[in-house]
Parts: sequence; structure tokens; C-alpha cells
Amino acid sequence: MMLTNKVAVIYGAGGAIGSAVARAFAREGARVFLTGRERASVEAVARDIVSAGGSAEAAEVDALDERAIDRHLQSAIDEAGRVDISFNAIGIPDRRILGVPLIDLDVELFSLPIATYTTSYFLTARLAARRMIANKSGVIMTVTALHSRTGIPLVGGYSPSMAAKEALTRALSAELAPHGIRVVGLRPYAMPETRTIAEAFDARAKTLGITWEQWQDVLASRTHARRLMTLEEMANAAAFIASDRASGMTGTTMNLTMGCLDD
Ligand SMILES: NC(=O)c1ccc[n+]([C@@H]2O[C@H](COP(=O)([O-])OP(=O)(O)OC[C@H]3O[C@@H](n4cnc5c(N)ncnc54)[C@H](OP(=O)(O)O)[C@@H]3O)[C@@H](O)[C@H]2O)c1
Repeated sequence: MMLTNKVAVIYGAGGAIGSAVARAFAREGARVFLTGRERASVEAVARDIVSAGGSAEAAEVDALDERAIDRHLQSAIDEAGRVDISFNAIGIPDRRILGVPLIDLDVELFSLPIATYTTSYFLTARLAARRMIANKSGVIMTVTALHSRTGIPLVGGYSPSMAAKEALTRALSAELAPHGIRVVGLRPYAMPETRTIAEAFDARAKTLGITWEQWQDVLASRTHARRLMTLEEMANAAAFIASDRASGMTGTTMNLTMGCLDD
């Protein structure tokens, strides 16, 4: 197992990516501390992990609330002795931020994803890093999307928010890698099992005039493999990056777009 004896904290762990990553980390032997805005959804994921033989605890933490993040991290460290991995997987509902042309978009809605995603990543990363520095080891991770690197219409402030997170990954790494802390992002394309992709389709359904199945085919046709990645495949890549086997990786975002986006 790649993550034996590692302690991981996951933000947005009730969501599609957060819960898949939590399961993969636990399968690889990590003790996982799951957090989310809503206790019920993270508790359900923790129960699943425990019944599969893993070690998981759930807590209600708003990943935009610095004090709540700090208190929770301290309680995880009091219990487990250390934190090795911080993974920020929060996502805000796309229906609030997609579907409106930039020339018609309210400035508050334009700013919402930029402020939310960058602030949450900044807070969770730096509070974990302050603890990891003492151990001279740790991995800070998050997730972005191909919007960071290519122009896509009707996504408002989402593209700049993803580009900003990737820039923050590089900046965090430049400051933290000398202390033994790696900072690495994941950039998956579209995983159709998730509500994020269902909502992205809803926002375009009328304009495109195609069905959900046809839209998945269109997305898949842009990859080299002519298929979309599963959540499990994405989570397996996350577990590898979080492990010591990826000790040479920092300051970068792993391109998981299956050829859809060139490096
Ligand atoms: N799904 C994909 O195929 C895909 C591909 C590329 C990139 N991404 C990106 O990856 C991220 C996660 O996507 P996802 O599909 O896993 O989304 P998701 O299923 O909607 O999960 C996001 C989770 O974040 C939680 N959350 C939101 N704000 C929070 C906060 N302030 N504090 C704590 N938790 C918070 C949500 O809780 P609530 O339920 O309470 O809102 C939800 O459980 C998003 O940025 C998304 O754009 C997704």
C-alpha cells in the first residue's frame, strides 16, 4: 500500500472528487479526516470507508473559515500525531456561475469562483503547511480543470479561478519545497458520474440542442482514448501523487485530460 501510516485531511470530502480521493487514500492505508460543510454527506463517506476496513473520521468544516480549518487541523493532529497530506476538493455549484456570456455577467458572479476557490485553497494549504514545516515533510494537493489552460465559452469566472489555483500551486511549492513540502495539483477533464458534469451539461443543453449521451460522446471524442476518465482512475492518480513514490513531483499540476489538452 502506498500511503501506510500517512494522515490525510480532505476538504469537500462529501463531493464526487473529495469522496473518491478519500476512498483511494484509505484503500492505500492512509488514516483520513474527512471534512465538509454538511456533516451528513461526509459521515456517509466515512462510514463506507470504515466498513471497507479503512480508518476515517468526519467533521463539519467550512473550508472558507480560517478558524474552523485551524481548529479541525489541530484536533486531527492531537488525535493522529501529524498531518501528511492536505487535499482541497471543494466545488461550488456550477449552475450559479455557468451559462451567462461574459459581457452580460454580474461582477459579483464573475468574482465568486475566483474568490471562493483561491481563498479556500490558500487557507487550507497554508494552515497545513504551518504544521508540516515542523516535520519537514508533507504534500498539499488540489484539483483544477482544463479551463485553466484553454478558452471555453460561458464559464464566467471559472477559468480564471482554475488558472489562479494552478499559479498558487507553483507559488506555494516555490516557498514550501525547501521545507520538504510538495505541492501538486490534478487537472482532470470530465468525469460523467459527477453532478458537476451534469450541471455543466444543463447549462448548455438548450444552446447545444443535444442529449446527455450525445454530449458525453462529444467530450469523449476530444480525448486520445475516445473515452472519459472515471472517478476511480482520477483518485488512483491522486493516491500516487500523495505517496512518497512521487517524491520528485512538486510545483506542477498533473494533466489528467487524456490528451484533450496538450502540455
Ligand atoms: N467533476 C468533474 O468531472 C471535474 C473535472 C474537473 C474539475 N472539477 C473540479 O473539481 C472540484 C470538485 O468537483 P466535484 O465534481 O467533486 O464537485 P461536487 O461533487 O459538487 O463536490 C464539491 C464538494 O465541496 C463542498 N464544498 C463547497 N464549498 C465548501 C466549503 N466552503 N467548505 C467545505 N466544503 C465545501 C460541497 O459541499 P455542498 O454539497 O455542501 O455544497 C461538495 O461536497 C470543482 O472545482 C470542480 O469544478 C471537477
